[in-house]
Amino acid sequence: MTRLSGKRAVITGAGSGIGRGTALRFAAEGAAVVCADRDLAGAQETVTLIAGKGGTALAVAADVANEADAAAMIDFCADAFGGLDILYANAGIPGVGTGAGTTLDEWQRVIDVNLTGVFLSDKYALKHLIAQGGGGSIINQASVGGLVGVAGIAPYAAAKAGVIGLTRQLAVEYGPAQIRVNALCPGTVPTPLVRATYEARGGFGTDTGESVDETLEMQRALRFPLGRLGTEEDVAMAAVYLGSDESTWVTGQIWAVDGGQTAA
Ligand SMILES: NC(=O)c1ccc[n+]([C@@H]2O[C@H](COP(=O)([O-])OP(=O)(O)OC[C@H]3O[C@@H](n4cnc5c(N)ncnc54)[C@H](O)[C@@H]3O)[C@@H](O)[C@H]2O)c1
Repeated sequence: MTRLSGKRAVITGAGSGIGRGTALRFAAEGAAVVCADRDLAGAQETVTLIAGKGGTALAVAADVANEADAAAMIDFCADAFGGLDILYANAGIPGVGTGAGTTLDEWQRVIDVNLTGVFLSDKYALKHLIAQGGGGSIINQASVGGLVGVAGIAPYAAAKAGVIGLTRQLAVEYGPAQIRVNALCPGTVPTPLVRATYEARGGFGTDTGESVDETLEMQRALRFPLGRLGTEEDVAMAAVYLGSDESTWVTGQIWAVDGGQTAA
């Protein structure tokens, strides 16, 4: 369990779901982890779980859509652990709505967190990695929803597609500095975000009436060749690979970790 030993990582949205699962896995692999979240109590709970297993982690409150917070969370890691090696820009919110049914305010709120939040996290990580002399790995959280159309999540899908474009762009710009930038596109992992999405959408399609549990079961049965939903650990293991030195010739890649959903 030493695939990340000596690495210093910032994980945004580490107070719940995939971010928490990845923080636990990163720490188990030897990384020192900054758990950043706008929900400080959630981030602190993740730190407690890591400490209970003998790992190294600290919590910091940060709203990734706020530029000063994004800058401060990177500085926090550098001050606490002496530098930065990995950023996992994972924080996100649900973004339910059809093209005609989404208000401008709702659109903007989702873009602010799910796209601008990734841009700001990346921006300050890049500044730090460059000042450090180059190298390092940035992992951006996109989604299957950024790759294929999914009913009733127009602002979310647009933000995630934006993350994919940003990822390729930064990989090209910062490749010469040996800074790698990749994106993960998870399929369905039943976290609070997914449950809130299905609740707000009103079923498997827009207002089709299925409960959240029925929708999850339909997803499982109809969408995934591997026949099951994902887990936080499924995504965390992909992030470990991208954060580690096992992937030093991998950049600009958009990697679906999705039980085969986008192949079907
Ligand atoms: N769960 C899935 O099926 C799935 C699939 C594809 C992509 N994703 C993406 O994975 C990421 C994590 O989602 P999850 O499913 O683990 O959700 P989650 O709701 O369990 O966790 C999201 C975390 O992000 C934090 N957060 C939200 N807005 C923030 C902000 N402005 N600043 C800082 N922290 C903020 C929340 O407090 C929470 O702790 C999101 O970007 C989501 O879009 C999830």
